[in-house]
Amino acid sequence: MHRNADYPNVVVMNHPLIQHKLSILRDVGTGAKEFRELVKELAMLMAYEATRGFQLAETTVTTPITETTTYVLAGKKVAVIPILRAGLGMVDGILELIPAAKVGHVGLYRDPETLQPVEYYCKLPEDIGERDILIIDPMLATGGSAAAAVQFLRDKGARTINLLVIIAAPEGIEQVIKSCDDVRIYTCCVDSHLNEHGYIVPGLGDAGDRLFGTK
Ligand code: PRP
Ligand code: URA
Repeated sequence: MHRNADYPNVVVMNHPLIQHKLSILRDVGTGAKEFRELVKELAMLMAYEATRGFQLAETTVTTPITETTTYVLAGKKVAVIPILRAGLGMVDGILELIPAAKVGHVGLYRDPETLQPVEYYCKLPEDIGERDILIIDPMLATGGSAAAAVQFLRDKGARTINLLVIIAAPEGIEQVIKSCDDVRIYTCCVDSHLNEHGYIVPGLGDAGDRLFGTK
């Protein structure tokens, strides 16, 4: 894990397992089944890192040998918010680590002409304001979708917001920071730039299409 001096709120997860899986994910020859498995595994590894700051509380446990003082999570309430559709691919991996998390859905798609986010669905846990939020989406490109999701959640009373994206473009990071400078961004890699169609270079192509086999 390292912090980029240019972006203090960005955590780049450079663990060897993450980088290995990311290489296979990027490969144009990786099929939908393996792509889905990798997105799930990467999401789980990212959640492991993103929850490092969770508070612990002391408890007492009796082992087969003796009674001992040990630690459990201090009642942390978490909401996982996938940005539809590609964010769905990351949900199960995170729920395997945090099964008590509630899941909210924000439906946004990027207009292919204007690259602006268009909202089409929203269903959030009622107590969203009391939960630590993990917004999940494999790709942060222009940042329009993520910034819209963050603003949307803020309007609904959300407080601590973390954004987990497998690949980020510098343009997307800057857009999110510009619109909301207290969001922490976790990513496996900050790629080079966007191409003329708004795709991340080198990226992995269209994450939603590769997950769901729609192209
Ligand atoms: C992709 C991706 C992000 C968004 C990123 O979704 O999953 O949500 O684009 O681009 P941006 O940073 O420029 O907004 P897309 O709009 O293709 O919808 P989909 O998940 O339904 O395929
Ligand atoms: N959305 C994707 O799925 N891929 C990109 O490279 C950019 C936006």
